[in-house]
Amino acid sequence: MNKILVLLLAAFTLVACDKKQESANTAPAAAAAVSGETVYTEKGCVTCHGAQGKGDGPVGAALKPKPRNFADAKWKNGTDLASVIKSIEAGITGTGMAPYKGVLTADEIKAVAEHVRKLGNKT
Ligand code: HEC
Repeated sequence: MNKILVLLLAAFTLVACDKKQESANTAPAAAAAVSGETVYTEKGCVTCHGAQGKGDGPVGAALKPKPRNFADAKWKNGTDLASVIKSIEAGITGTGMAPYKGVLTADEIKAVAEHVRKLGNKT
């Protein structure tokens, strides 16, 4: 009986230590600048737009219209940073592109806008 108690205590302590470690690891990341690439991969953009922004993500391939290839010279709403931010905030009516205002923070939207422009060589 005592042995079980000791084991339980040991397990609990391990879990508690793990949690502490986790928050120590994530705190600096949260304080650092937002990475557009991280937003792109972790918030789902990549599933439609594809890792290289060619519009060939697994979900995007099934859409009509498909997400464009970001390397296209012209985009529906323009390729300058302000226009791209607007497209991401408001979405594109009549397509699978949802509005992300309120879903992502302003910093995340700006960072991911810069990332998709980079994928399309819009520098
Ligand atoms: C459900 C699939 C889907 C997801 C998820 C998605 N998009 Fe889109 N996106 C589209 C489609 C479809 C369009 C419309 C066709 C086009 O213009 O590429 C579009 C359009 C855009 C455009 C405008 C291109 C233009 O022509 O003006 C940008 C910029 C964009 N997406 C960025 C993003 C970013 C950044 C994310 C993640 C925060 C994201 N998309 C998530 C499907 C998606």
